[in-house]
Amino acid sequence: MHEKVMVLDFGGQYNQLIARRVRECNVYCEVKSYKTSIEEIKKFDPKGIIFTGGPNSVYDPDSPQISKEIFELGVPVLGICYGCQLMSHVLGGKVESAESNDTSEYGMTRTEFKTDSKLFKGIPSECTTWMSHTDLITAIPSGFVSSAHSEKCPYAAIENEERALYGLQFHPEVMHTEHGSEMLHNFLYEICGCKGDWSMQSYAQTAIAQIRKQVGSGKVLLALSGGVDSSVLAALLSKAVGNQLTCIFVDHGLMRKNEGDEVEAAFADWDVNFVRVNAGERFLSKLAGVTEPEKKRKIIGEEFIRVFEDEAKKIGKVDFLAQGTIYPDVIESGSGDAAVIKSHHNVGGLPDYVDFKEIIEPLRLLFKDEVRKLGIELGLSDVLVWRQPFPGPGLAIRIIGDITAEKIEILQNADAIFREEIAIAGMDRDINQYFAVLTSMRSVGVMGDSRTYDYTLALRGVTTTDFMTADFAKIPYDVLAKISNRIVNEVSNINRIVYDITTKPPSTIEWE
Ligand code: XMP
Repeated sequence: MHEKVMVLDFGGQYNQLIARRVRECNVYCEVKSYKTSIEEIKKFDPKGIIFTGGPNSVYDPDSPQISKEIFELGVPVLGICYGCQLMSHVLGGKVESAESNDTSEYGMTRTEFKTDSKLFKGIPSECTTWMSHTDLITAIPSGFVSSAHSEKCPYAAIENEERALYGLQFHPEVMHTEHGSEMLHNFLYEICGCKGDWSMQSYAQTAIAQIRKQVGSGKVLLALSGGVDSSVLAALLSKAVGNQLTCIFVDHGLMRKNEGDEVEAAFADWDVNFVRVNAGERFLSKLAGVTEPEKKRKIIGEEFIRVFEDEAKKIGKVDFLAQGTIYPDVIESGSGDAAVIKSHHNVGGLPDYVDFKEIIEPLRLLFKDEVRKLGIELGLSDVLVWRQPFPGPGLAIRIIGDITAEKIEILQNADAIFREEIAIAGMDRDINQYFAVLTSMRSVGVMGDSRTYDYTLALRGVTTTDFMTADFAKIPYDVLAKISNRIVNEVSNINRIVYDITTKPPSTIEWE
């Protein structure tokens, strides 16, 4: 068993980030609801507890509360923002609205620290912290001292060393807080006494043993999309149960250039039954003349299930259906409650159609970056591990309007050049998602001495951490110029190229 930390979620927007930071320190943690009972907490046996921030005021009648007993368990606690105010409130301190006396703080704030505190060991006595609070602790509970302050906030950090209770008014988990990761590291190692036994190597061994135990001699079926999650899952299952696993890879013909072959090649040497279904024509005929994006999605989703079902029938009854659910899906569904079946077409809905006994989700406790680490640990190829996200409906939603085989080919060729040049420029791991869009709009151009009337291609590149908001990537002009030049010269039927400079919101990342 690993040493564990519990992150109690009070509805803060950074709850997942805190958990990731803890895991980056090689300490395993889980995010649980603040409603988790004392009995459950004791059973979980955490080495430390972290309270997240949250949008409420502690004195709101409906605000999330916590029992005083939690502070009597003898387990170190770190309260962050709302969590800090709540700790103070419950233990007899005073929290007031900072708005009335203009002491609320938002953004980067100079903060002075007492570096003899265990929490601030090794950090400079003055750093920038990220504050975001409209309430303020105005009196600390007895037994506590202030260990940091800013201009407006006398209690930017509080602590009771003897009881191992610590609170931070600011957010150590966000990158704007200088040395924030070190503070979390200090909490885990100096205060909770963690040794750091969470690594992907140990996780892989444990997960493989668990899968073997659960699956026994049963048959496992996996819908492989070629994306990071399903690829890593395939690798993990292959190591665990070898050819008891069948992966069905439905190639809908709307993948990027050569992608179907790349996915197939990546698994060529693995011990799995790999079934590739080339269903391009089947999808294309269903999509003929369809222009409405949601209708495209629906058709592709339904057709995918049909193809998968046809293949699954050939295998007969399977015992387990593997799903690539990952931890953010689990947290979003309510702090570790029920399993989530992703709504994406490539997995959603399958359980209704395929004959199986049980679902297994071996990645459900991992964050995306951990899934990648696991992939590397298992020896999966870089092509798959570092694949940028690709939507289930594929190029269908990157060809505006109706889809034809000709347009797919044009887009595949242009997109391949874009990706190649971004890689040459060394930007492929910095831009989180980048692709070409065939706008289906035509405009006039001139080539040689002749007039052309051809398609406009749009390039999209975004930087983002969560794909919920995004900025357009600042690709240097010379790189854009080279891409543009190559595409118009090498790909027929494109005579104009534009770069999408909108953020999300108000745009979305995909064009459809
Ligand atoms: P948007 O366009 O909503 O995209 O800003 C956010 C992220 O979701 C991906 N995306 C999809 N993924 N099925 C998927 O599996 C879809 O229908 C779909 N639509 C958008 C998109 O590529 C981006 O990463």
